[in-house]
Amino acid sequence: MNFKTFFSEAIRIQYASEDEPELEEEARLLMRTVGVRPNSQKELLMVAVDTTTEQVVGALYAGWSHGSGLGELEGQQVMMFSWDIGVEPKVQNTGIGKQLIQKAMKTYDMDKHQYDDQTMLYIHAINPVLAAHLVKAYGMEEIGKQGNESILIKVG
Ligand SMILES: CC(C)(COP(=O)(O)OP(=O)(O)OC[C@H]1O[C@@H](n2cnc3c(N)ncnc32)[C@H](O)[C@@H]1OP(=O)(O)O)[C@@H](O)C(=O)NCCC(=O)NCCS
Repeated sequence: MNFKTFFSEAIRIQYASEDEPELEEEARLLMRTVGVRPNSQKELLMVAVDTTTEQVVGALYAGWSHGSGLGELEGQQVMMFSWDIGVEPKVQNTGIGKQLIQKAMKTYDMDKHQYDDQTMLYIHAINPVLAAHLVKAYGMEEIGKQGNESILIKVG
């Protein structure tokens, strides 16, 4: 068993619920540690919990917002799904981020059907390796930069 496998087996991904405010608080502190500030349109969607310590080692905040479309949807009213992610520095690069992202993408695919407007994913990636992962693994398209951040979208 290699290091990466060990970590991924000891991690539980769970959706956030209102009865667990302590998870919410740990997630908030984690995001502060990694320097990511989810805006007010995003809520804690899920956490990665280390099953040996029961501590939150990953968090993903997500939300839907109305917006005016980008890329091929330029000028149209769209519903945009965005998320921000943070993984505890000691366990970064062990696959936790990928698991959270995969589940966030599934959530998008399930939830988008409830909207009449066109939908798109809209991600501000402060991390260039993460941006490359989103392009490679999910076919997201970088449509521009805001400072060091890549703006990535995927329509539909
Ligand atoms: C970016 C981050 C969420 C990735 O989560 P992770 O659990 O460390 O990453 P994973 O092991 O699941 O790997 C996911 C991808 O990110 C890359 N990655 C992993 N660790 C990384 C790091 N420290 N810095 C940059 N990219 C990293 C991996 O190469 C992988 O891409 P690939 O498989 O296409 O090559 C995490 O490193 C983190 O919280 N960083 C600090 C905060 C941050 O940048 N958040 C993103 C805001 S947009």
